[in-house]
Amino acid sequence: MNPIDPRFKTIIEPFKLKIVEPIPFTTREERETLLKTAGYNLFNIPADKVTIDLLTDSGTGAMSVEQWAAMFRGDESYAGATSYYRLEKVVRDLTGFKHVLPVHQGRAAEKLLFQVFGAQGRRIPNNSHFDTTRAHVEFSGSEAVDLPAPESSDTQAEHPFKGNMDLAALEELLKHDAARVPLVCLTVTNNSAGGQPVSMANIRGVRALCDKYGKPFFLDAARFAENAYFIRTREPGYAERSVRSIAEEMFRLADGCWISAKKDGLVNIGGLLAFNDTGLHDPLRNLLILQEGFPTYGGLAGRDLEALAVGLQEVTHEDYLRYRAATVQYLGSGFEKAGIPVLKPFGGHAVYVDAKRFLPRMPPQQFPAQALAVALYLEGAIRSVEIGTLMFGRKNPATGQDEPAPRELVRLALPRRVYTQAHVDYCVEVAQVIAQGKHLVRPLKIVSEAPILRHFTARLEPLGS
Ligand code: F0G
Repeated sequence: MNPIDPRFKTIIEPFKLKIVEPIPFTTREERETLLKTAGYNLFNIPADKVTIDLLTDSGTGAMSVEQWAAMFRGDESYAGATSYYRLEKVVRDLTGFKHVLPVHQGRAAEKLLFQVFGAQGRRIPNNSHFDTTRAHVEFSGSEAVDLPAPESSDTQAEHPFKGNMDLAALEELLKHDAARVPLVCLTVTNNSAGGQPVSMANIRGVRALCDKYGKPFFLDAARFAENAYFIRTREPGYAERSVRSIAEEMFRLADGCWISAKKDGLVNIGGLLAFNDTGLHDPLRNLLILQEGFPTYGGLAGRDLEALAVGLQEVTHEDYLRYRAATVQYLGSGFEKAGIPVLKPFGGHAVYVDAKRFLPRMPPQQFPAQALAVALYLEGAIRSVEIGTLMFGRKNPATGQDEPAPRELVRLALPRRVYTQAHVDYCVEVAQVIAQGKHLVRPLKIVSEAPILRHFTARLEPLGS
């Protein structure tokens, strides 16, 4: 519903365009060849061969006039740049955390954090680790323990907070293995579980367990504003609160956070590590200097810090978040109506297609989600990403076979403030074509793969080719 005038239902994009960027068109024949050359891996497709790019919502957003204007103010001093102090104040006001270290993106923060907290034999719980988080935890020698709420495993259950942590499982872990747990992490929204939000009650529950067992609590807050918006719209008691104040409350329940600012920072590059513990400051700062840059720029240009300071304030605007959630819902409902099952309820940044339900007879070893992502590109020049056995499957060392991932999802992530309703309508039309012709989705096999994060570089080919 239109918030200003209830007679009108259309949720219009809350912006108008000032600069336009052409999008490319290719023929199906061209895309057939491109796919072969790319080893059926969409990460290998040049962006100028993609019409609608829903690979990720990370770093792909459009900045506002205020952000572009702020960039001119960028202070490029190596040390003590005014741009840093401006950003530090914005982050402190938003999060309440004392120490603010800029980094070039989320995984840089993960690298620093898990060099300090991770070690052989340690166990790090999270509702669900994102792939780079898991990789950094494991690279440090620790075990990444996913403890998603049980309701997250059913893609059709209409639970409002399917991103939650399983608090009983967390307590079990802490009760029996506290000595090996250096910190507790919580990802908001829960990307690997479908961009699903975490409730304030659940965040409070994690806080209580961290207090009980004396553990620091860190948020992976890449999509904190989308999470706060869902708390406002779905959790009793929050309907009258501003999204900004909900976000402030979320951060104040934790001891620290890291943020890939390429999402809800509304910037194309950037990240943050922020926390209260002064004892952590020196080790993290020293690693930052070694690996990223001096602490007042952390691998970013002064102008990047300025754009981020503005983005962190714009992202909690209600008009923007309402439009964003409505767009995800519109895309997801379109797929569903076309006959392609999607994860419900709709999350914050993406639609997740349930490829296992759509292609029940295709075994995980034939990569049904990747096969569907390839079909979306071949038929409609839409780029999406597989979150299934290609991304998360493990080779069984005994058999050499892939152990299937728990879910076979295709994620269609919406860049922020980039596409219009016409673009989304087109995607839905492509979905209709595929839903009516399941034979267009061809099973795949892996030809070559890297030992970690294989989905980025693996090469595949259609089975039987
Ligand atoms: N944490 C979460 C929850 C993420 O979604 C991401 C990135 C990261 C950490 C790492 O941040 O990319 O800035 O280094 N997610 C992107 C995605 C890549 O497509 O979902 P980064």
